[in-house]
Amino acid sequence: MELIHRLVILIAFAGLLSAYKSKAQSPSSSTSPARQLDALLQDYGYQAFVHPHTGVFYDGLAPANLSGIKISVVRLRSGSLWRRGVHSFKEFDIPIGLIVHPYVERIVFVYQNLGNWSSVYYPLPGFTYLAPLLGLLIYDAANLSAKNLPELDFVASKSPIMINFTNVAPVLNGLTPQCVWFNLDGLPEFRDLVSENACSTYRQGHFSIVVNSTGLAPSPSPGGGPVPGLSPGPSPGPSKSHKSKVWKIVGGVAGGFVGLVLLGLLLVWLLIHRQNKKVAEMEHQADVGEALQMTRVGSTQAPVASGTRTQPILENEYVA
Ligand SMILES: *[C@@H]1O[C@H](CO)[C@@H](O)[C@H](O)[C@H]1NC(C)=O
Ligand SMILES: *[C@@H]1O[C@H](CO)[C@@H](O)[C@H](O)[C@H]1NC(C)=O
Ligand SMILES: *[C@@H]1O[C@H](CO)[C@@H](O)[C@H](O)[C@H]1NC(C)=O
Ligand SMILES: *[C@@H]1O[C@H](CO)[C@@H](O)[C@H](O)[C@H]1NC(C)=O
Ligand SMILES: *[C@@H]1O[C@H](CO)[C@@H](O)[C@H](O)[C@H]1NC(C)=O
Repeated sequence: MELIHRLVILIAFAGLLSAYKSKAQSPSSSTSPARQLDALLQDYGYQAFVHPHTGVFYDGLAPANLSGIKISVVRLRSGSLWRRGVHSFKEFDIPIGLIVHPYVERIVFVYQNLGNWSSVYYPLPGFTYLAPLLGLLIYDAANLSAKNLPELDFVASKSPIMINFTNVAPVLNGLTPQCVWFNLDGLPEFRDLVSENACSTYRQGHFSIVVNSTGLAPSPSPGGGPVPGLSPGPSPGPSKSHKSKVWKIVGGVAGGFVGLVLLGLLLVWLLIHRQNKKVAEMEHQADVGEALQMTRVGSTQAPVASGTRTQPILENEYVA
């Protein structure tokens, strides 16, 4: 019996732990290749700050094994970012009223242009990139030699950030190009273009212009294809990672449910255990000496000896 109790507790705690863990890990994109690239480019971007001046754009050097990727950085005071925005930081026009969370005194914008690596790190099966994927992320500027910094969240509170793409590939046979936005979890969202070559955003992430080429014959595009060097080839990557994400979520929910059920079992067990303990105590008392039986008398309880023949009664009960 004791063993079963211990087992129930053990299983319950294991269940709760796994539910907690799967919940904590569900946005586990931190280890995806794209997130590893963000961390690498943050590090390489910060290396461009040698004797940095606030508000000056510096071009960084991407690692040699990632040639084709371009990075730029700028360091700003949060207050000046809020009051003035940043005009024409590469393709990005950052308006006034940008809120950075959590607040830090100075921030660094890291700009990424993934060039021909766009569909390698952000594969989008069924779609063709018409422009390189551009990233805009914010980090704390407090330590310019820091690595693996977490991104700071930001939101444009007054008007959206505009992204003017240059050299957008012409669209094939009347297909409608769309803006795509990847948030840090790597999930794509599609929006309408603001103008022929511009997209807008209120938030951080990676942006490009794509066209849904699902219905097209997989012919090797002749003239007017996608941007030279941009490999449009659909890769099985994302559906896989998406599936694994879905499974993680399903797993998390299932884990949470199992945890709840086990918690319920644990509570039930605790109640039963308490009841058992009470009974055991009573039995113990019964062993030690005859317990006085309690009998209800009116609204009060009174001890009675088990052998009493006439039960105590209140007088007014006669009246009733
Ligand atoms: C490129 O090199 C960096 C270090 O220089 C390394 O961390 C990274 O994993 C490499 N990436 C690829 C895709 O080989
Ligand atoms: C983008 O284009 C609009 C007009 O088309 C212009 O007002 C804006 O300054 C441009 N922004 C950048 C970053 O070039
Ligand atoms: C991108 O282009 C560079 C040369 O500009 C090349 O070294 C690199 O291998 C290319 N990357 C991919 C993924 O094709
Ligand atoms: C800045 O970051 C580097 C690398 O993580 C670390 O070695 C250094 O101590 C940090 N400096 C400060 C002042 O925190
Ligand atoms: C892309 O187009 C195909 C058919 O043309 C359609 O079935 C599919 O839903 C579209 N995908 C998206 C994400 O809009």
